[in-house]
Amino acid sequence: MTTQDELKQQAAAQAVAMVQPNTVLGVGTGSTVAFFIDALGARNRETPLALTAVVTTSNRSKTQLEANGFTVSELAAVDHVDLCVDGADRVDHQLDGIKGGGGALTLEKNVAINATRNVWIVDESKVVTRLGGFPLPVEVLPVSAEQNLRKFTAAGLAPAFRLQADGSRYVTHYGNYILDLGVSPLPIPHGLASYLDATVGVVEHGLFLDLADEVLIAQADGTIAHWTR
Ligand code: 5RP
Repeated sequence: MTTQDELKQQAAAQAVAMVQPNTVLGVGTGSTVAFFIDALGARNRETPLALTAVVTTSNRSKTQLEANGFTVSELAAVDHVDLCVDGADRVDHQLDGIKGGGGALTLEKNVAINATRNVWIVDESKVVTRLGGFPLPVEVLPVSAEQNLRKFTAAGLAPAFRLQADGSRYVTHYGNYILDLGVSPLPIPHGLASYLDATVGVVEHGLFLDLADEVLIAQADGTIAHWTR
C-alpha cells in the first residue's frame, strides 16, 4: 500500500467513527470512500450499526456496500440523509471543493444537498489555497455538448471531452458526456458556478460550494486535521 493510500485509509477510519446507529447514511464514490466502505463493513460485522438506510452515489459503491452486507436504498426512497461521507478531488480553506473525478458528480451533489451533515475525507494532497489544479468536470447533455464545448472554449475555460481508454467519450450513469474544464485556478468559483448553472445543456458541475460541513484531512505527519465550517 502506498503512503497516500495509508492516508486515505486513516481519514476513512475516522469518518467511520462518526456514523451513528438509527440514521440514514450517504456514501460517496472514489478510492478514499472505498476504504470507508470496507472499514464500515468491518465495524458493522463487529457490532451491527442498525442503520435506518444507506444511499450511495454510484454503482461501484453500491456493489461494494452490498458485498459488505449493507442493503442500499435509492435516494428517492429516503426523505433525508443524516450524514454523507464522500471524497473530494480538491478542497480549499473555505471547505469548497472540486468533485467528480470519478464521474459521479450529479448523484453526489443530489445526495449532498439532502444531507444534514456532509463530511469529506481526503489526504493532504487535495488541499489547495485556490480551487484548481484539477480539471473541473461538467456533465452535459449529448444534444448540447458540441455547443457547450464551443461556448466554454470561447470563454477561456479550456474544455475537453472526458475520454475512455479506447478513445471514445466517457458516458455518465445518466447517459451524458463530461467536459473537463482545464482552466486553473478557477476564476471566481461562485461566479463560475452561477454561469454553469445558467448554461443550457449543463446537467451538473463539480463545483461543490458551501456544501461540505466538515473535512477530515489525513496528513503525512500522522495527524488528521478536522476542519469545520
Ligand atoms: C467521484 C468523486 C470522488 O470523491 C473524488 O474523485 C475523490 O476520489 P478519490 O478518493 O479516489 O481521490 O468526486 O466523482
